[in-house]
Amino acid sequence: MSAALLRHPRLISLEGGEGAGKTTAINAIHACLRAHGHEVVLTREPGGTPLAERIRALVLKPDEAIAAEPLSAEAELLLVFAARAQHVRQVIQPALRRGAFVLTDRFTDSSYAYQGGGRGLDAAWIADLERRVVGLLPGLTLLLDVDVETGRARANGRDLWPDRIESEQDDFFQRVRAVFRERAQQDPQRFALVDASQVQQRVAADVVARVEQFLQNGEGA
Ligand code: TMP
Repeated sequence: MSAALLRHPRLISLEGGEGAGKTTAINAIHACLRAHGHEVVLTREPGGTPLAERIRALVLKPDEAIAAEPLSAEAELLLVFAARAQHVRQVIQPALRRGAFVLTDRFTDSSYAYQGGGRGLDAAWIADLERRVVGLLPGLTLLLDVDVETGRARANGRDLWPDRIESEQDDFFQRVRAVFRERAQQDPQRFALVDASQVQQRVAADVVARVEQFLQNGEGA
């Protein structure tokens, strides 16, 4: 028997492909929650603790000593879940317990999209890790959706040194996007899909409107 998966009303995640405008959006959500008088812990994945940030660097920006060794898809999945295990226990659970909101730039949906869709790993294995290692589902997940070409063009203008994942080909990102969209379609209660092809300020405004709606419905109580 696997452990249970509980949806927590004060855990909010932001998801999306490359170049979707997550940074502007997350800052706008942060400001919105604070304006409502809430304590907000703003964090990210992979990362959010010193150890998890080290793991992030291993996965995304391996140094010279290890860069030549191909990282297997399986090791990549287990590394992001190792980081997540720390993040959940050191940061997310304590914050939720004391009544704060946790706003995370990416969460488990990214593993389904990147390691499941992108790398082709079995979603049932990811679901098992999710139940055993995480045990938590966000109350609200904002998915910034943009077609791969547009996202790519934006990210290319920004990143001089693309990381391991940013260096993947378009078909990888098509699969990532397809899984994100599929998950949003399967769980419309939790997901809010936002059109991220719009200008960044418009995307941020849409995202904030969805958060306001979520709060008004008493869902973040
Ligand atoms: P970002 O924070 O700039 O979006 O970079 C994080 C990268 O890590 C992004 O390419 C997606 C990837 N990632 C995974 O592959 N799996 C995961 O579970 C998470 C959280 C992120």
